[in-house]
Amino acid sequence: MDSEQIAYLNQLKEHLFHAILEISDVIMYGDTHHVETINHFGDKQLSLDVLTDEVMFETLRKSKVVKYALSEEKPELQDMGGDHFIVSFDPLDGSSIVDVNWSVGTIFCIWPNKDKLIGLTGRDILSAGIAVYGPRTTILWYNVESGNVEEYSIKRDDNDKLMWVRIKESVKIAEKGKIFAPANMRASADNKAYEALLEYWRTNKYTLRYTGGLVPDVYQIFIKGQGIFANPVSKEAPAKLRLLYEVAPIAFLVEKAGGKTSNGSHSILDIKVEDYTQKSPLAAGSKEEVERFEKYMAENRN
Ligand code: F6P
Repeated sequence: MDSEQIAYLNQLKEHLFHAILEISDVIMYGDTHHVETINHFGDKQLSLDVLTDEVMFETLRKSKVVKYALSEEKPELQDMGGDHFIVSFDPLDGSSIVDVNWSVGTIFCIWPNKDKLIGLTGRDILSAGIAVYGPRTTILWYNVESGNVEEYSIKRDDNDKLMWVRIKESVKIAEKGKIFAPANMRASADNKAYEALLEYWRTNKYTLRYTGGLVPDVYQIFIKGQGIFANPVSKEAPAKLRLLYEVAPIAFLVEKAGGKTSNGSHSILDIKVEDYTQKSPLAAGSKEEVERFEKYMAENRN
């Protein structure tokens, strides 16, 4: 990227980080009831889904550097009036656990503006970030200048104003690790590979850490620096994670932090965008753990 593009990207980052503060506030004080709408994917929308989606679109419009944006709630290109970038995002991941007050997140991904995303792959992504709203609100962000995945946290300045502070300069994922987060576990009923892999993790005394929230379940792998998040699929339990709003941005960050990702046979970053509602299986984390995932999936095909 040239220095002008980097300056525009940094401008966008400021806006996105501000949106995360706003969303954090919406989650903290907004109510968690359902509204009378369903999104494109057939998910019943919460009022929080709609509100957080609006915060993101409004922010991207204000940034003046985004041509198009699209979200899990609105999976078509929406004109944002600027140039330079396309942004895909999931404003509120974990709607099913927000009522029980578990950690939820926002996922965003910045692409070059090539007028559309069809035909691109995750290798075209310029930067991405995930925010987790837990006891603290924190962000993982890829810094194009340093080539590092950084972690940010909210602090108060001397005037009591909220501000973002970088708390880790470079987050790295080690080659192996014994934390496992087994999503879509019902697929193991008719996916023998998944059943065998669960047995491997159990008998090899791996530590189960799973909440059902994609963002916190993946976030832990960056911060603990090891482990695997796996969301394999089966005939009876098909893919539900969306490529543009969840899978590709997370895969981009994981690979930038030195980890590996897979859809069962190859890196998520090699999947071509064919439409804006595409879904994919996902394994992400320590290289050796993801390689084991691929080996099991290849050996135990039903
Ligand atoms: O977006 C869908 C989602 O809620 C993710 O946040 C999460 O990783 C996954 O579904 C959980 O699936 P399951 O409840 O089947 O493990």
